[in-house]
Amino acid sequence: MKTLYLPANKENILRCADIIKSGGIVAFPTETVYGLGANAKDDNAIKKIFEAKGRPQDNPLILHIPYPEMAEELYSSVPESYYKLASVFFPGALTLIYYKSDSVSDVATAGQSTVALRMPDNEIALELLRAAQVPVAAPSANISGTPSPTKAEHVYNDMNGRIDAILDGGECKIGIESTVLSLIGTPTILRPGAVTKEMLAAVIGEVQLSKSILQPLGSGEEALSPGMKYKHYSPNAQVYAVYGNEHEIANKIAYHYDNFEKSGNRCVILSSEENSRFYGERKQIILGSRKKPEEFCKRLFSALRECDGYTTVLCETLQEHGAGLAFMNRLLRASGFKTL
Ligand code: TXA
Ligand code: MG
Repeated sequence: MKTLYLPANKENILRCADIIKSGGIVAFPTETVYGLGANAKDDNAIKKIFEAKGRPQDNPLILHIPYPEMAEELYSSVPESYYKLASVFFPGALTLIYYKSDSVSDVATAGQSTVALRMPDNEIALELLRAAQVPVAAPSANISGTPSPTKAEHVYNDMNGRIDAILDGGECKIGIESTVLSLIGTPTILRPGAVTKEMLAAVIGEVQLSKSILQPLGSGEEALSPGMKYKHYSPNAQVYAVYGNEHEIANKIAYHYDNFEKSGNRCVILSSEENSRFYGERKQIILGSRKKPEEFCKRLFSALRECDGYTTVLCETLQEHGAGLAFMNRLLRASGFKTL
């Protein structure tokens, strides 16, 4: 298949909406990561997404909507908490899960009785959704298991020849995927993102965190959060998440780096601005300031892609709250929970 690579101007957005309406699949930018979209009402088109990504069939997709009210036709009924949250956070990096209506395809939800909805905060994505006039099922536009794409060139590297088109809208503002919140029972964060637990709790009161956020899945939790059980975000190198306070971390990383190199490994450090001078001549990719976890989030996936060609990646960890929790969730999954 020839993949069109299109700058995201008005004409090309309309062209991509037509491709989606006629059953094709298109990668498009959002504020979080690039998505790979299909008409959520067309089972054949949705199946093409699973095929192109090599995605396990039991992992449900998020439906992207151009305005909050589209939930009326997609949920079996709309809970009050949905409108409270949508009025503050839509458009934005928040995905809300509730019981699905009969009109939602079982292929998109992988047979779950629930459906995930999100209105992205990106003008290109919103124009595409408005023009397509259907909900657009879209996972991240990467091959399953690789880091989510934050630039059109990442999508191209994974997907060229497998999809109909890529809309290039530049670098994603946030760089990690949306917060996924289930509204069933006590609202529960299944995947942390830029919209934090504290921000959600300020609007709807009690919010809990799924246990699987910082741990491998225990038995019985698979049904709640199917995506969490797969290895994610991995470059070809082994990633280690290195713990300690600002200064301990730098000492530990330098020590392990030198040992790994002595035994024939090629190492790279995912470092902070604060510690970068300390690492001296050792290879490093700076993620940002330790005081701004959002910078670490924005750079992580792109940096993991730059680690191909190394055998060993040593990454600084952050405190697990606010945006730091989202960062640690992705880092631990990229490392397969290997820590130092
Ligand atoms: O920021 C994002 O959310 C990006 C952009 C493209 O919108 N999308 C994204 O999609 O990250 P994906 O498919 O890579 O991740 C969706 C996650 C998966 O972990 C999936 O298991 C979970 O959301 N999910 C989707 N529908 C669900 C449902 N009905 N119940 C439980 N989890 C669900
Ligand atoms: Mg994904």
